[in-house]
Amino acid sequence: MSRRHRALLGWAVVAAAGVMLLVTQADRPAAAQAEELTSAERTQAGNIYASQCATCHGAEGAGGVTSAGDPVPPLAGNPDVTVPYIDLVIRVGRMPPAGDPYDNRSREVLLDAEQRRLVTAYIAEEFALEGSVPTVGEGDPVTGREVFAANCAQCHGSSGAGGVAGAGAWTPPVVNADPVTIAEAIRVGPFQMPAFNSQQITDAEIADVAAFLEVVSQEEGTPAGLVELNPVYASGFAAVFVLIVVISLFIIAGRPQWFPDPSGQPTGRGLSRRQRKTRDEQEPAG
Ligand code: HEC
Ligand code: HEC
Repeated sequence: MSRRHRALLGWAVVAAAGVMLLVTQADRPAAAQAEELTSAERTQAGNIYASQCATCHGAEGAGGVTSAGDPVPPLAGNPDVTVPYIDLVIRVGRMPPAGDPYDNRSREVLLDAEQRRLVTAYIAEEFALEGSVPTVGEGDPVTGREVFAANCAQCHGSSGAGGVAGAGAWTPPVVNADPVTIAEAIRVGPFQMPAFNSQQITDAEIADVAAFLEVVSQEEGTPAGLVELNPVYASGFAAVFVLIVVISLFIIAGRPQWFPDPSGQPTGRGLSRRQRKTRDEQEPAG
């Protein structure tokens, strides 16, 4: 193997390691959401529950009636209510309700991600709820389209635009829903929506549906550029691009002069004047 090839191989190994690092970093799932709260967080979360939920669902989560006299379901001891259900209703702005809690059209996300994390963990602890916020892997949009057409399109429309009557209720658009929202909705079956178990729709198929809806949202929105890409792909592409540039440079230009020679012979360039002088003194001219 020539020196140039050895240098090239060295660089390729470094670049490949870089790619691996970037991809694994991007692929790492977000930290689980419903974790234990510190006592300061607990106080904060308790305040959010008291002001945003307890007014209707009660301090003990026993349910009650709205100010209009309509029934409010309990959150404690309610077999339908799980950690992903709480996380979902807050994520999509269904709870706390922006208007009439029975009208699922009136939505506005009132709690931010941090408030959602806190109050979800608080409710989970207080009312001993089951389940956790799911993580969703990479999926295949082509399979996703089939799964969506067979299970979801009759209510949400073939491209997830919503508004189509299903189960006698208005259905929200789901095109821009993030993968976690999709996974939660499929397993929970919020309000009028049916729940699907893992025999009906597998976890892999959930990821496929999420991938399909992401493609649809990109088609309808801005043209897909690198920024629009999912971070795993984006960092992968960036890393591969850098790798290609580095390899091309070495093929075209060879090892740069400033780069240490793998065989250890000084080139003269990059040496200080004094170093060069010392070397010249050792090598008699001629
Ligand atoms: C203004 C009163 C009101 C407030 C405030 C409110 N809810 Fe609700 N909630 C309701 C009503 C009414 C329903 C039933 C709606 C329906 O069936 O369409 C409901 C339903 C739910 C459900 C579904 C329960 C089931 O059995 O399907 C969950 C979960 C929920 N609320 C969580 C919350 C959380 C968490 C908060 C605070 C962040 C909150 N709600 C704040 C009135 C309220
Ligand atoms: C029978 C009709 C029906 C079917 C089938 C159905 N959904 Fe839904 N879905 C609904 C309704 C109604 C809601 C709104 C519930 C509410 O908040 O009142 C909903 C809510 C959702 C949400 C939450 C969005 C939001 O803003 O609240 C997602 C995501 C979702 N559905 C995805 C799906 C997927 C994916 C499928 C197929 C696997 C599916 N749904 C099948 C009726 C349906």
